[in-house]
Amino acid sequence: ILSASLLIIISYFIGTIPFSFIVPKLKGIDVRKKGSGNVGGTNVLRNLGFGYGLTAMVLDCLKGLMPGFVGVMIYTNESWIPYLMILAAVLGHDYSVFLKFKGGKGVATTVGGYISTHPLSGFIFFLIWFPIAFKTKYVSLASITSMFVVAILVFIFDYKAAIIYLILAGISAYKHRSNIKRLINGEENKTDILNIMSK
Ligand code: G3P
Repeated sequence: ILSASLLIIISYFIGTIPFSFIVPKLKGIDVRKKGSGNVGGTNVLRNLGFGYGLTAMVLDCLKGLMPGFVGVMIYTNESWIPYLMILAAVLGHDYSVFLKFKGGKGVATTVGGYISTHPLSGFIFFLIWFPIAFKTKYVSLASITSMFVVAILVFIFDYKAAIIYLILAGISAYKHRSNIKRLINGEENKTDILNIMSK
């Protein structure tokens, strides 16, 4: 119990490293004052281009992947521990001590968690995410939809994972509340990923 609690606490602190804040800062840009103001890969992508955006996304993804991977290695993915470690990492990302408990929306970090516990769920995430993001250009819509669909599908083969994935989707939907408002009002920021990639 003691070592598991320690791993969960360490995972939270790994999650708090605000890569999507650090990466644009290397170029002297405070991403909190740009676009959606979100400290997340998408906002970095929109404002600084593909290289910076992808770097931020991959690093944020590793914050969920690494704790999940270590958790699975020690406890297997049949234990609650790796899932609690991932949950802690996402909460660290969303409510970072380095950003006065503000943070991102936890999408990339959650995807890292999927890959480490059930790689197939990571694959399903992208299978849903890419078409929605490319077609509508609303990354928020793609992210929220994919997270809920993954959580529901995972119920078929692993209820523990599904419960945590559903909680992660719920937290992310909550963090996306301003996006949801903008989507309803038709005012959401568009992100033309293919166009940004070609620049
Ligand atoms: O990963 C966050 C994304 O779903 C939305 O980002 O900057 O459009 O609020 P943003």
